[in-house]
Amino acid sequence: MTDHVEISRDGQVLCATLTRTEKKNALTGAMYQTLTEALAQAGRDETIGVALLRGKDGIFTAGNDIADFIAAVGSAEASPASLFIRALAAFEKPLVAAVEGPAIGIGTTLCFHCDLVYAAPGARFQMPFVNLGLVPEAGSSLLAPQRFGYAKAAEFILLGEAFDADVAHELGLVNAILDPGELYAHALAKAQALAGKPRDALLATRRLLRGDPAPLKARMDEEMRLFGEAVRSPQARAAFMAFMQKAKA
Ligand code: COA
Repeated sequence: MTDHVEISRDGQVLCATLTRTEKKNALTGAMYQTLTEALAQAGRDETIGVALLRGKDGIFTAGNDIADFIAAVGSAEASPASLFIRALAAFEKPLVAAVEGPAIGIGTTLCFHCDLVYAAPGARFQMPFVNLGLVPEAGSSLLAPQRFGYAKAAEFILLGEAFDADVAHELGLVNAILDPGELYAHALAKAQALAGKPRDALLATRRLLRGDPAPLKARMDEEMRLFGEAVRSPQARAAFMAFMQKAKA
């Protein structure tokens, strides 16, 4: 467990807030574990209808902790990040995100798994996997082209270009853009609206909207295999070291 993720509840909504703001909410193994446990708990608890994800102090997340990438040992498939990704994709209740500031790497890719995403105007999305010598994760190599079309997916995944809230809204990643002061209240109100619906109908309809989960699972397996190789590659390690050196400078 970690004190860098705060788990709270508001009525039937479970809220997970990332609070490692001094590191831009970069996700450590312990943070992934806490998030995975929170999703498991929310899945089991019949009094919880929806899970909501957000970051504290105007920061969503700068993605996976790069120091953890450098220290990566063992199989990528069993890493806390991979277990979180699997839990996210398998979560059967609606997921809502309130995004402010950087939403990098998994900060963007987790949004593909959310049912509703609300963003502040300053939200900045980026999937810089290739720049770092990595490959996409969380099924984003499948979900980004499905959602955006191939041309935009190539721009954001091959080139790794960042995009803002307006573009994310136009492309259908974000439902609405809200002032920072209204963002959380709006996301919570929508989460509560979902949680108040007839539960069985809501969950069955969500399953129908998502369709067959097998292709997504197969793609995530393939991504994890390639990611596990890439994260140890000389190019990736050089990119991680460059980031850490820049941060120290
Ligand atoms: N992993 C580890 N530490 C991170 C981090 C990450 N993903 N993102 C930010 N940090 C740390 C920085 O090292 C710095 O630590 P320090 O204060 O001890 O030096 C601190 O958080 C603040 O980051 P900084 O880069 O100084 O803030 P910024 O406002 O100039 O830039 C970002 C913010 C998010 C744009 C920038 O930190 C960034 O690009 N982070 C890496 C994103 C990334 O590539 N993630 C991996 C995706 S797969």
